[in-house]
Amino acid sequence: VETYIKYKVKDIALAEWGRKEIKLAEAEMPGLMSIRKEFGPSKPLKGARVAGCLHMTIQTAVLIETLIELGAEVTWSSCNIFSTQDHAAAAIAAAGISVYAWKGMNEEEFDWCIEQTLFFGEDRKPLNMILDDGGDLTNMVLDKYPELVKDIRGISEETTTGVLRLHERVKNGTLPLPAININDSVTKSKFDNKYGCKESLVDSIRRATDIMMAGKVAVVAGYGDVGKGSALSLRGAGARVIVTEIDPICALQAAMDGFEVKKMDDAVKRADIVVTATGNKDIIVGRHFESMKDKAIVCNIGHFDNEIDMAWLNKNYGATKDTIKPQVDKYTIKGKDVIVLAEGRLVNLGCATGHPSFVMSNSFTNQTLAQLELWQNSSKYENKVYTLPKHLDEKVASLHLEKIGVELDVLSPDQAKYIGVAVEGPFKSDSYRY
Ligand code: NAI
Repeated sequence: VETYIKYKVKDIALAEWGRKEIKLAEAEMPGLMSIRKEFGPSKPLKGARVAGCLHMTIQTAVLIETLIELGAEVTWSSCNIFSTQDHAAAAIAAAGISVYAWKGMNEEEFDWCIEQTLFFGEDRKPLNMILDDGGDLTNMVLDKYPELVKDIRGISEETTTGVLRLHERVKNGTLPLPAININDSVTKSKFDNKYGCKESLVDSIRRATDIMMAGKVAVVAGYGDVGKGSALSLRGAGARVIVTEIDPICALQAAMDGFEVKKMDDAVKRADIVVTATGNKDIIVGRHFESMKDKAIVCNIGHFDNEIDMAWLNKNYGATKDTIKPQVDKYTIKGKDVIVLAEGRLVNLGCATGHPSFVMSNSFTNQTLAQLELWQNSSKYENKVYTLPKHLDEKVASLHLEKIGVELDVLSPDQAKYIGVAVEGPFKSDSYRY
């Protein structure tokens, strides 16, 4: 990080293609575009040096350029070795932004990329804002560069797994900054995690394998937000879906949504397709692999690759690994083949292009509002994990209605009084679950 490398991408010649897709995505991201209109002229992020670590996709390019439109300087890395869209990264690099991301990097390169984002430009000014997805950037700064913390105003964290890590830090007394939990904005987890995966899970399995989905038995581990979207995705494609859970509430939800709910040890034997969506570890381990049907497809849509015991698979059957194409590997276990997608890393970004723009506009509008809030009002916050207030959550949703022709009724003052809310919202209490 001593020497300044302006960017590192796979192929800068892909920039023009990336730019064309960014333009199309902008039309599907009304939340971000209206934030640009509202805040662009006053440049409220002037002086902010935002280091971001989040899947470097076309949708993320629109987020990056929104932060810049609001006055920030930005550096970027991807939070997964397979999730970069190289044309998106090229377009961002060609626009003069320091991005360090390419699809199919190794773990060393992954850390190198994050490290490059900590210092800005020739004069190597350190970051003063963190925008993270999964907590790898946060960990790098807090554990390896603690001297940078004094200049940083806050962290905004995108996903369930990263938020879990932040809560751990609060518990252990090792969070030295205020953080905003984007994931638990309703307009993030109840949309991106659910409807996003509903679109992108089957898309990724199809792109990877071209398998006929209808009629197949698919097992989804975990019936949280991601699991719900994943199960819906598979059902929508005609698969017969079995859910596994450890939480009685989510298990009951799955059953009453019409899914079979079984133990993994039993379900896995019937599965043509296995998807882990728990954010937990060791969901698919050696004995599961050994009891799978021939040609079973195994993938993970949770944040980290430890949901599937890839270490066991590679140790015991690595010699049988046969790569069909990038991110699609066949292993042979006691005469039966198992197809593993994206080396057990999140499949919708590894084997497809992640969630569509419209749903990411919701997530990223929350991200932008959080960055604004932390930059402008950092001193109002303690070193804890916060969510955005309800009125902003409702604002994010409302920015996405017109695009899809949604018309809202309006409360009369009398009705508002009757249910105990203001005519202009917030319309629900903070404990309402949606
Ligand atoms: P969540 O907490 O809503 O759901 C996880 C569910 O898994 C819970 O219902 C939990 O009871 C269940 N679970 C935990 N251990 C289990 C086990 N051993 N067997 C069966 N079920 C188990 O979390 P959410 O939001 O659904 O996120 C899940 C993961 O997906 C996280 O790692 C998150 O970061 C990631 N994520 C991935 C996205 C993608 O595009 N690929 C998008 C959003 C989140």
